[in-house]
Amino acid sequence: MKGIILAGGTGSRLMPITSGVSKQLLPIYDKPMIYYPLSVLMLAGIKDILIITAPESMEPISRLLGDGNRWGVDISYAEQPEPRGIADAYIVGADFVRGEPSALILGDNLFHGAGFQELLRECRTMTRGCTLFGYPVADPERYAVGDVDSEGRLIGIEEKPAHPRSRNAITGLYFYDSDVVEVARGLRPSARGELEITDVNRAYLEAGTVRLVELGRGFTWLDTGTYRSLLDAGQYVQVLMDRQGVRVACLEEIALRMGYITADECHALGAAMSQAGYGRYVMETAKALA
Ligand code: DAU
Repeated sequence: MKGIILAGGTGSRLMPITSGVSKQLLPIYDKPMIYYPLSVLMLAGIKDILIITAPESMEPISRLLGDGNRWGVDISYAEQPEPRGIADAYIVGADFVRGEPSALILGDNLFHGAGFQELLRECRTMTRGCTLFGYPVADPERYAVGDVDSEGRLIGIEEKPAHPRSRNAITGLYFYDSDVVEVARGLRPSARGELEITDVNRAYLEAGTVRLVELGRGFTWLDTGTYRSLLDAGQYVQVLMDRQGVRVACLEEIALRMGYITADECHALGAAMSQAGYGRYVMETAKALA
């Protein structure tokens, strides 16, 4: 299975913070935002990853992440010249996906919760249809919203409805079979001129091949699209670290736990950042897991 991180866009809702820097490079407490979606794909066991960026973000994002080999994954890059919509990821990434199932994750989404890795690994084995993740939120009108029947089956999806039928947001993580490129190619731009991921998901819904996984109360899903949510996400990561001593989305730790790198390699990655608390955590983790 292939993985795509969509990390383009203009970050217009976060200006002027994003006037000089890509949104996905902004800090979420101790690490850049893009570490979080990358950690999700790594936890899913996906090693072949395409990062789609705006042209001006290609250089700084690739400088940060490189080819991914230090974490035992293979990262390549593609440009999205204009923010033409989330489903455009499958036009830009068509050659990369080439007939394989894939996961798409938005570069500004943060997921954290018990049992997530097992859930992701199970999704990775999927070869037919699509899997979406629902999460109850207080402000569903900011998201795609899923409508479910009395048995919990998805019966409708609406993008940012003025009057949401439920509080169930559809998160920015999607698993698709190999048909998704054709589905995306068949889309027409929406009223706001974008290829909407919700239209892709609706096509799967009409074909009867959508699975909705509810991420329950014990789970955390945060997006970072506003000043407030950016700060909230950073504080969430800080609280977990201070209270439990764990760092969410530490790529070196995940690479080690997944068996992508050895404890010695992990330790060396931490040692290169030993002036930073993050680096010392990586070194300690490498020692503890050696
Ligand atoms: O966060 C989940 C939500 O993400 C979903 O519930 C919605 O269905 C989905 O449309 C999306 O809503 P947003 O309002 O967050 O979409 P936004 O346009 O902000 O794009 C999300 C991220 O994707 C953002 O970090 C920029 C990136 N992006 C977006 C577009 C439209 C691109 O890289 N290229 C694009 O063309």
